[in-house]
Amino acid sequence: MSLFGKTKMGYAVVESRHLPQWRTLLEEGIGLHVTHAGEDDIAFRLDEHARRIIVRRGDAEDVVATGWQLEDEAALEAVVSRCRARGITVASGSAAAAKERGVASFVTVQGPKGLAIELFTNATRADAPLEMLASGFVTGLGGMGHIALTTRLPDDVERFWGELFDARLSDRVAQRIAGVMVDIAFLRLNERHHSIAIAATRGLRLDPLRTKVQHVNLEAASMDDIERAFARCRQLGFEMAHEIGQHPNDHQISFYVLTPSGFELELGWNARKVDEASWRTASYDAISSWGHKPERSGVAHRLAENAGNFARGLHSLLNPEFAPLRKP
Ligand SMILES: [Fe+2]
Repeated sequence: MSLFGKTKMGYAVVESRHLPQWRTLLEEGIGLHVTHAGEDDIAFRLDEHARRIIVRRGDAEDVVATGWQLEDEAALEAVVSRCRARGITVASGSAAAAKERGVASFVTVQGPKGLAIELFTNATRADAPLEMLASGFVTGLGGMGHIALTTRLPDDVERFWGELFDARLSDRVAQRIAGVMVDIAFLRLNERHHSIAIAATRGLRLDPLRTKVQHVNLEAASMDDIERAFARCRQLGFEMAHEIGQHPNDHQISFYVLTPSGFELELGWNARKVDEASWRTASYDAISSWGHKPERSGVAHRLAENAGNFARGLHSLLNPEFAPLRKP
């Protein structure tokens, strides 16, 4: 059985010490619906799913789990048996954890870089009408946007998604960033151009990021939503990692705002869908066709960033990266 087209991104769980700032960013900046606000966790809706983004109190300052919705139990069982055949441990999520995520039940595996990859079929539906600043978000068959990560083992990450979920390569981008060649692979699981983007430095593999996830993407319903959210985030004092610009491969117009946890949140619009009959895999030499300018591009800032990233990159050489399909 091919699982292509049967998996879509469902939710993301973030762990942070900065709950009030996260609420401000997601509710007042991006314009999501707050569906639950507790002492130790806040949950957000952006469509009929009861929970799409969950931010809970903790020290990670990172995305700690991503949820992936399988079409039915047979598809979920197929992923589970593929995991077991490869020696990947599959654990059941607790009832409390399922409730936190707004799903009936889920199983979890430790994915690339140790990021929890959680599998479910049934999401809890919310009855209440959406009350949010955004006009809407594109989810549907393509699921909730995408994630991007940096890795020292890009082949292993591609294999993970390919062997377990029948992911297909949409295209590749190679671009020099801060003097280093970076290769990015864009994998799709369904009609969405990519649900996973995998970035790696060419030659000596360094991972310059502290976080498991480089950015999470949400797809807005209109260009108006992008412009307004951009202005609101600015007004609220959030730094733009990249101002409004456009990607050449999926044609998405987007901006990247720095979250209170240090990774980026991309809000995009108008991503083209892949037509399997006519799609040809392409290579691009730039990640942006226009725009996406860093807000703080001063020389001093760039030097400080690069020095920090270089130190972390060197540090990454000393620590093996977790790869589920690689046997020790
Ligand atoms: Fe993206």
